[in-house]
This record gives sequence, structure tokens and C-alpha cells, in this order.
Amino acid sequence: MPSKSVAKRHMVAVANSGSAELSRHLLKAEEEERRRISRELHDETGQALMVLRFHLEMLAGDASSREQEAKVQESLEVLDRTIEGLRRIIARLSPRVLEELGLLSAIRRQAQLLGSHTKMKARLELPDKLESIDHDIEVALFRSVQEALHNIAKHSQARSFAIRLHISGEKILLEVEDDGVGLLTRSPHERGFGLTGMRERAVALGGSMTIQSRRDKGTVVRVAFPAGGEPSRTSVDKAARAVRRVAKAS
Ligand SMILES: Nc1ncnc2c1ncn2[C@@H]1O[C@H](COP(=O)(O)OP(=O)(O)O)[C@@H](O)[C@H]1O
Ligand SMILES: [Mg+2]
Repeated sequence: MPSKSVAKRHMVAVANSGSAELSRHLLKAEEEERRRISRELHDETGQALMVLRFHLEMLAGDASSREQEAKVQESLEVLDRTIEGLRRIIARLSPRVLEELGLLSAIRRQAQLLGSHTKMKARLELPDKLESIDHDIEVALFRSVQEALHNIAKHSQARSFAIRLHISGEKILLEVEDDGVGLLTRSPHERGFGLTGMRERAVALGGSMTIQSRRDKGTVVRVAFPAGGEPSRTSVDKAARAVRRVAKAS
């Protein structure tokens, strides 16, 4: 009976809306956890490394032989690279830069960082200013830019990349494109969690993520959200009413 299959679809919609709520909750918990880890790395590990650095510098001044001095200098260099690496980990973990600068400047900053590390050319198409968008979606957009740029640095061998953010009445669309080697087909167990995580985050917030890529023609990652955020309340309410109607009738 057609009405039954409609009811079935609605029931699935209601069930999905529950799991979307749960996923949103889990995303929040994950962000909170990342923030805590980043704070601890900053306050504890970071501080301890700075103390070590201070002591090593003192030792460098007091070295009694050339050999000793060379060893201390070498240790200082290793330590500086470690501190630099830790800073990058902290920056990736915490969206503090997003909270401090806002989405547009945070995206610009990420692009600058990649440009200065790799000498890749960056092209940005961002709106002049942002109307208020859902905070969870903002975090998801920022995380997607971070992951896509990280992938470009790690895998693409590109010469340039572009970040586009278009916001219309109905849709928020983010595109991150590079002109590199393109996505190679890999067996599932070789795949990382970056792209999968990006897709799951988008879907949890009512959006989608797609990838377009050709060998040696680069890669485009697109993340889209309805401008209103999650699937509208009215469609969830309608589905709930339909399920109640079917339950009453049977
Ligand atoms: N911009 C890109 N250019 C080329 N290959 C890419 C790009 N982005 C992702 N890939 C490929 O897709 C795979 C999966 O990416 P991801 O899920 O982020 O995992 P990871 O980066 O941890 O390997 C990568 O291992 C890489 O082979
Ligand atoms: Mg990755």
C-alpha cells in the first residue's frame, strides 16, 4: 500500500533525526575534548619544554668543550623543532583561532600558513562579511578547510589551491580545490579518517560532502549545508505526525 511505504519513509526520517541529534551531540563532545587536550598540551607540555629550553641555553653558555657546546646546540635545535611541532598540533586541535578571529579570518590564516610553508599559490573567494551562521556549521566549515588544506600539503603536490565560500539564501557551499596529482584509488584499509570524518560531520549537521578528482588534474572537495542549518523542524514534525496517524489507524 502506498500510504504504508510513505509512513515507512517518515519513520526512517524520524529515526534519522534522532541520530542526527546524537551525532551533533557527539561532535560537540569531541570539540570539547580537543579543546581540553590542547589546553593541557599548551599549559603543561608546552611550559615544560620552555623550561628545558631555558636550561639548555644556560648550559650552552657554560659549555667546557667544543664537543659539549655542539651537543647542547644540537639539543636546542631538536627542542625548537619539537616546540614548533607542538604549536602546530595545538593549533590543529583547538578552533581557538576560529573563536578569536571569526570564520573568514581563520580561513585566510590557514591559507597563509599553507602558502608560507609550501610556496603554493593561494586563491581565496570569500564573502566580504558573514551573516550569522549556525556555530556548529561554522566549526564544521573551519575543520573541513583545515583537513582539506592538510591533505593538499601532504598528498597533492599541487602548485596552487583555491578556497571558495559561497553563501546564498538557501545554501552554504565550501569548495577547496588544488591542481595536484588527484586522488589515487586506494584500498579502504589504506584510507585515513580525514575525509571520512569530514563527510560524517557534514551529514550530522544536515549537509553533504563530495569529492571530484582526476589523475593529474587536481582535486575539489565540496561541503554543502542548507543555509538554515539542520533539516527543518517542520519536516521532522510532519514526519512525526504522519507516524502518529499511521499508528492510530492500525
Ligand atoms: N588533495 C589531495 N590530493 C591527492 N590525494 C589526496 C588529497 N586529499 C586526500 N588524498 C588521498 O586520499 C586519502 C585519504 O585522505 P584522508 O581521509 O584525509 O586520510 P589521510 O590524510 O590521513 O591519509 C589520502 O591518503 C590521499 O591518498
Ligand atoms: Mg587527511
